[in-house]
Amino acid sequence: MKRFDVVTLFPEMFSALTESGVTGRGGDRGIYDLVCWNPREFANDPRRTVDDRPYGGGAGMILMADPLAKAIDAGEKRQKGSGVRTSKTVYLSPQGRVLTQRLVEELSSLDGLVLLSGRYEGVDDRVIESRVDHEISIGDYVLSGGELAAMVLLDSIIRLLPGVVNHTDSVVDESHSSGTLEYPQYTRPEVFEGRRVPDVLLSGHHAQIKQWRSVQAQARTRLRRPDLLKNNKSDS
Ligand SMILES: C[S@@+](CC[C@H](N)C(=O)[O-])C[C@H]1O[C@@H](n2cnc3c(N)ncnc32)[C@H](O)[C@@H]1O
Repeated sequence: MKRFDVVTLFPEMFSALTESGVTGRGGDRGIYDLVCWNPREFANDPRRTVDDRPYGGGAGMILMADPLAKAIDAGEKRQKGSGVRTSKTVYLSPQGRVLTQRLVEELSSLDGLVLLSGRYEGVDDRVIESRVDHEISIGDYVLSGGELAAMVLLDSIIRLLPGVVNHTDSVVDESHSSGTLEYPQYTRPEVFEGRRVPDVLLSGHHAQIKQWRSVQAQARTRLRRPDLLKNNKSDS
């Protein structure tokens, strides 16, 4: 079983991941578990303060190092106690390495992950220095919190875990897993508003279908994301 521990001020947000669709099913099947740790529970004052003004001035509030560090430690301790051997602590951050399918595949091979979701103007940098192995961004834009980013990361990992998606082929064939975008897909009816499904897909000729899909995937990638083809060449 994969173990995920998430440090967040908004644990209730994660029910969107754990209670719906493929990721909900993965949890129900015991393929992973997810525990949230709220830094407020680790605050040192009766008002459960977790943020303060930035040294040096400036807008907004910063999440304080101590409650975050204690919440991360609790997550790491649970992982160790559950027999996790390989685990990394990740801070979801717009300053991190941008998430790709390759990075998702790397992370999905670990036994566990501890994820830190920031809020406000971010987190005290010392907690990143002392606790975080990787900073990961889900794209070059700024969210109001790390929760959605953590859920994006978790969703992309969970669907790769054996037994979560019913047909293993459907995760192997997809956009980005083979370095290209996926070919176009169709389902019934054969004609929709005068648009016919390509004949080859109705032919039952598996070799020709495979060939058509490969040509379509290449053409689509060249048109929409030529950078991916360039990246493939430089990788090989
Ligand atoms: C408003 S942002 C803080 C941004 C920070 N002041 C900066 O400029 O780098 C609040 C939190 O949202 C999360 N976040 C925002 N954008 C993100 C992104 N593109 N990828 C991952 N996490 C992000 C981080 O956890 C961050 O601590």
